[in-house]
Amino acid sequence: MDLLGIIYEIFLVIWILLPPYTANGLAVLVGGSTPIDFGKKFIDGKRIFGDGKTWRGLFGASGLASICLLIQSLIENFIPIGPYHDIGPLNAIVMGFSFGLFALLGDLFESFIKRRLNLPRGYNVPIADQLDFVLSFIFFSYIFYREWAMLWLAPNRVLLAYLVTPPLHWGTNYLAYILGKKEVPW
Ligand code: CTP
Ligand code: MG
Repeated sequence: MDLLGIIYEIFLVIWILLPPYTANGLAVLVGGSTPIDFGKKFIDGKRIFGDGKTWRGLFGASGLASICLLIQSLIENFIPIGPYHDIGPLNAIVMGFSFGLFALLGDLFESFIKRRLNLPRGYNVPIADQLDFVLSFIFFSYIFYREWAMLWLAPNRVLLAYLVTPPLHWGTNYLAYILGKKEVPW
């Protein structure tokens, strides 16, 4: 593949992952109030998920992913990039909401593991923090959107998704830091 082909593939992977990125990245803006575990503890006496995972965050951020995919599908009416082309507004909304949930279920699972390991809310596990949601998004897409996933998330793209996400994550954090939205650049 030539350089242009590689650049196109990187763009395509980011385009495909935009709804899960939106859900994972913007949960902090819409989250709050009732925690998903309702404050309950697991059999080990520690919180199941903790206060960082809320119902509002889960459904609000999935709603944002839904809006994201809807906009993408509208753009693809004019520029047929491929993955979200010709799916119709209602399907786009459902698909986007599902993709948001797929991503956040991985994020939730990671919190479950963190609590078992006694790690406090907000403790960053460098690589896992950025890749948990990508993994669960891909996993659930293959279950619930099998044909779509086989077409758009072939193994080479999954690999690329894993290569692209960490630098993108650090890049957006750094941008947020420059814009004064974050205290630290990571
Ligand atoms: N958030 C939420 N509901 C979710 C996911 C995220 O309300 N299902 C919000 C919370 O305000 C959370 C913030 O988004 O604090 C950042 O998300 P994340 O980094 O995943 O959570 P942490 O606070 O780091 O908590 P944890 O240690 O459990 O990962
Ligand atoms: Mg965190």
